[in-house]
Amino acid sequence: MKKDAVEVVRMESICKSFPGVQALNDVNFSGYRGEIHALVGENGAGKSTLIKILGGVFQPDSGNIILKGKEIAFKSTHAARMVGISVVHQELVLVPYLSVAENILLGQEDCNKLGILRSLSMRQAVTRPLHGFQEYIPKELL
Ligand SMILES: Nc1ncnc2c1ncn2[C@@H]1O[C@H](COP(=O)(O)OP(=O)(O)OP(=O)(O)O)[C@@H](O)[C@H]1O
Ligand SMILES: [Mg+2]
Repeated sequence: MKKDAVEVVRMESICKSFPGVQALNDVNFSGYRGEIHALVGENGAGKSTLIKILGGVFQPDSGNIILKGKEIAFKSTHAARMVGISVVHQELVLVPYLSVAENILLGQEDCNKLGILRSLSMRQAVTRPLHGFQEYIPKELL
């Protein structure tokens, strides 16, 4: 870590229990700008639980999260996303009756004033990053 490095996120003394199991006991984590971390531990060590707390899925039983110097408490994944924290979860659950685009944009749907999905715009949003790879994309997705 450089001396003038900027601390982006700090998790202090995080504890989290589920019925019958203490998943996290006094866990600390700190991330500085530009860093990439690998969270390593045996099955059930609490890696996903820690990341879910950072992503607003769970609230900690105790402990603090400091984002760019300010203490925060996420009540939802939406609240975490609003300040730039987004998680690609280990175990993905797809909604079988939704389209690929609707699954990718779950929780970030593009709706009109009546709450009706803008399907074309959503499809374009998820395929745009794939431009340049078009020969590999099934025609029905474009
Ligand atoms: N929603 C939940 N309800 C009850 N117990 C849970 C829940 N989520 C996790 N646990 C328990 O908390 C502990 C930590 O689980 P966690 O999924 O965070 O571990 P992990 O390090 O991500 O494991 P893995 O390497 O298998 O992904 C485990 O004992 C697990 O059974
Ligand atoms: Mg896990």
